[in-house]
Amino acid sequence: MKNIGSYPNVRLRRNRKTEWSRRLVQESNLSPNDLIWPIFIREGKNIKESIDTMPGVYRYSLDKVEKLVQRAINKKIPMIALFPNTPLSKKNKKGSEAVNKNNLVCKALRLIKKKYKNIGIMCDVALDPYTTHGHDGVLKDNYVDNDETVKILVKQSLLLARMGCDVIAPSDMMDGRIGEIRKALDKNNYKLVQILSYAVKYASSFYGPFRDAIGSKKLLKSDKKNYQMDFKNSKEALREVALDIKEGADFVMVKPGMPYLDIIRLIKDNFKIPVFAYQVSGEYSLIKNAVKNNILSDKIIYESLISFKRAGANAIITYFADEVADKLSK
Ligand code: PBG
Repeated sequence: MKNIGSYPNVRLRRNRKTEWSRRLVQESNLSPNDLIWPIFIREGKNIKESIDTMPGVYRYSLDKVEKLVQRAINKKIPMIALFPNTPLSKKNKKGSEAVNKNNLVCKALRLIKKKYKNIGIMCDVALDPYTTHGHDGVLKDNYVDNDETVKILVKQSLLLARMGCDVIAPSDMMDGRIGEIRKALDKNNYKLVQILSYAVKYASSFYGPFRDAIGSKKLLKSDKKNYQMDFKNSKEALREVALDIKEGADFVMVKPGMPYLDIIRLIKDNFKIPVFAYQVSGEYSLIKNAVKNNILSDKIIYESLISFKRAGANAIITYFADEVADKLSK
């Protein structure tokens, strides 16, 4: 760094002395526009069910979802993400409930899209909410078969698009799925349906509470290391992103979030595509529990979200979206 000067003529504390001056020189900012709110849905009526491992997050029956969408719109949150808790009786080895037009997500899409226009809805493309083994794809000799899985994911994507999904978000980490999904969407006249690729998704232990929320935790008997990325790697993330951009992704995601800020920065510095970060369930629960037990101040929530912006993220999927959006508008 040149021209940095030196003490005593240089005193960096001068710019920090007053609140207005700190505001003048701030390099990062957080607004509701940066937030994506994940919502867990379930069957039944008039249900708001708590999740043991995620204090403050709930599974909602569909009749409760409309109100949540209205709340997100009022708070200027640009997009919500829907995640289904599928009853065990509807799960099977192939995850065929994923392509049932009357599954929970499809019902929710129809319900929301009938009424609300000015909010984006993103849906995961992967089979784990629907399989009895909890994996994101179909198994052949106990190995998730790439090409067979992609065929089903293409069907799932087309169905979601037909139901009104705005942003198709493949979170499965199969090779080549972005290209195949893009091709199918275009062929079926869904040329403007966006694809958010979970391009850089690590095989992480931070997903535990999410698996609890969608009911796949007890079913999953092994890890996902033969399709999700090894957390020891970063250059490999560049290859994943380069491929997905070529295959037609509109945005890419890095996941988990806080332990992977270096990856967000790396991608931001190497590509022009919008990069989203996922502050995943385990990160949420760590922070939430620390705040709940008075170990840390709730200011850490804002600080954690700013860290994503500082690293270069364009938006953040976070279970804090609802409560943070409130504070930001005050
Ligand atoms: C499913 C999926 C996962 C998450 C989002 N989509 C879990 C997994 O891959 O096992 C994790 C989100 C979170 O932990 O908040 N493909």
